[in-house]
Amino acid sequence: MTASSDKTRVLTGITTTGTPHLGNYVGAIKPAIAASQDPSVQSYYFLADLHALIKCQDPKRVQQSRLEIAATWLALGLDTDNAIFYRQSDVPEIAELNWMLSCVCAKGLMNRAHAYKAAVAENEEAGSPDPDRGITMGLFGYPVLMAADILMFNANKVPVGRDQIQHIEMARDMGGRFNHLFKGQYFTQPEAVVDERVQVLNGLDGRKMSKSYENTIPLFVSEKKLQKLVRKIKTNSLEPGEPKDPDTCTLFQIYSAFASAEEAAAMRSEYENGIGWGDAKNRVFEYLNAHLREPRERYQALLEDPAHIEAVLKQGAERARAEAAPFMDRLREAVGLGRFV
Ligand code: TRP
Repeated sequence: MTASSDKTRVLTGITTTGTPHLGNYVGAIKPAIAASQDPSVQSYYFLADLHALIKCQDPKRVQQSRLEIAATWLALGLDTDNAIFYRQSDVPEIAELNWMLSCVCAKGLMNRAHAYKAAVAENEEAGSPDPDRGITMGLFGYPVLMAADILMFNANKVPVGRDQIQHIEMARDMGGRFNHLFKGQYFTQPEAVVDERVQVLNGLDGRKMSKSYENTIPLFVSEKKLQKLVRKIKTNSLEPGEPKDPDTCTLFQIYSAFASAEEAAAMRSEYENGIGWGDAKNRVFEYLNAHLREPRERYQALLEDPAHIEAVLKQGAERARAEAAPFMDRLREAVGLGRFV
């Protein structure tokens, strides 16, 4: 047994189609970086760039997003000696496992996947004669690739958003089916971890911050742009001097996701004392800017040094493959694709 095999294995993927925003930071990046510092945990964090191809056929965008997301995690302090940080596409064993799992996964299971069902429902609503219009095999089989990501490293825990729980259940199903068919304990059963304490941030318009609503505040925009965006956060028409409700206020919500409990309590009383929206926005901008300044500088420096990012990810892939390659040999053997001698 290697030392790392006693540790809890925590794995999560980040689809590389967009630019990371404050909501991603609070909801996923910050808790993941914190979790990776736990010595009883071996974490596997990867850029789900094969998954990106499902949604995006714009190579420049995929390439840029991979670079930005890698730079973001590194700038925010991910310790890559500790966490195994890699690109999915650098570990070809994952694509091979995807095929093996496809061959044991019931098609009917995929018919029930949320992302596929939502796409079919959209076609039906639009009155299309073909319910599968525009749906690729990539989208249809996306939970199989995700199962391959997870089962390849026998992850115990998979931190995800609510919308992904079904996919983890499907991964359990596929792993269990493979174990049963090929009579061995090849795969452990992964568990979804949905942290209820993690906040879902609101965006500029008060709806959930999401790139599909175009209401995000990107993490590392320039100081000027950050100020402009904070000023755009929707507030109500209460005048300075009138008490304001922090609990229904996006500005306050964003502030308190970054601030300490004491700082949030102090801002809360400012609201009760009727702070004006202009002042509140300036305070929030100053606070965010002070927190983001240093990582923003590191981020810019990293983007100017893609060779460094490449080297870090290559090294992560080597560590990942050191586990994936021998495991894949075992799996090949299990299904009858082992060596002759
Ligand atoms: N599908 C996930 C998402 O959109 C990203 C992802 C890909 C993932 N593979 C994974 C998450 C494996 C957890 C484990 O958020």
